[in-house]
Amino acid sequence: TDAPLVLGIETSCDETGVGVVHGHTLLADAVASSVEEHARFGGVVPEVASRAHLEAMVPTVERACETAGIAVGDVDAIAVTSGPGLAGALLVGVAAAKALALSLGKPLYGVNHLASHVAVDQLEHGALPEPCLAMLVSGGHSSILRVADVTGADDGVVPLGATIDDAAGEAFDKVARLLGLPFPGGPHIDRAAREGSITIDFPRGLTSRRDLERHRFDYSFSGLKTAVARWVEARERSGEPVPVADVAASFQEAVCDVLTRKAVDAAADQGIEDILIGGGVAANSRLRVLCEERAAAKGIRVRVPRPGLCTDNGAMVAALGAEMVARGRTPSSYDLPADSSLPV
Ligand code: KG4
Ligand code: ZN
Repeated sequence: TDAPLVLGIETSCDETGVGVVHGHTLLADAVASSVEEHARFGGVVPEVASRAHLEAMVPTVERACETAGIAVGDVDAIAVTSGPGLAGALLVGVAAAKALALSLGKPLYGVNHLASHVAVDQLEHGALPEPCLAMLVSGGHSSILRVADVTGADDGVVPLGATIDDAAGEAFDKVARLLGLPFPGGPHIDRAAREGSITIDFPRGLTSRRDLERHRFDYSFSGLKTAVARWVEARERSGEPVPVADVAASFQEAVCDVLTRKAVDAAADQGIEDILIGGGVAANSRLRVLCEERAAAKGIRVRVPRPGLCTDNGAMVAALGAEMVARGRTPSSYDLPADSSLPV
């Protein structure tokens, strides 16, 4: 068929991802993660990430091509995350993509990281419903986007809201640390919560009537994190054991409650019938169930790519690049800059 064959490179955070897609078909998704090198610092260290990308880049490109059964010169285009993300980390991916595109004489497509979290769903569930409402929740971002054209053409991707402080995944990681659970904490909280009950009523950020006037679809998680810290400290002072599973379940409920409430409200407000969840936190079991429940009550469908496609990867970049080729978008110049604060 004439679907485009695209290689995509992602280096916005701590994952060196190289993916190969043929239209909506995933051929390879090679990922090298430096997450273990960051674990002892309790968070991603930019310098460590940049160096790890540099070391992993060539072997990961080779591994992706080998898995896809192609020679790198077979591709129709090279796509790369140009932002937003860690400046030094992005730079490594952009430099590698330019080198490949220039040396192979192929078009280069710089893509937006957030939009690629949306486009990746095509690899799992086929053509994207547009417009759709995307809830992107990870360690680095938490936003609600209205996606009418995932390539961003004609203001096709519009942010409706975002976190005003911590990202949802960041809150999971910080609370996990407080509870003595390993980094990254999200999966550990998810697991612990299954053994616990929702017994503590933690605050829901930006949901008061007054906050909703200015921040209808925005999130805030730093107050919640502080409330959990105070609660745990008080428990420790009293000499009683901290009920880790109950704290995890109650904290998780507070996060998922606000995330899903605002996303479903935003979709209903926009008359949109499909919600797509992306980013590492999309793997959360409670988030998924609660979102489906609340969306179904309003006749809204929910799509969530499998966990491996929700976390940062190269396939998502290739997926969006392929869409840009298919829709005839203009390639980027070979001067494409890395832009750590690239807006959608
Ligand atoms: O998308 P991602 O791999 O990287 C970026 O941050 O961009 O997301 C990682 C985040 C981490 O904060 C991690 O704790 C969180 O996703 N996460 C989860 C779960 N699995 C991963 N959070 C809640 N529940 C999970 N099951
Ligand atoms: Zn991401």
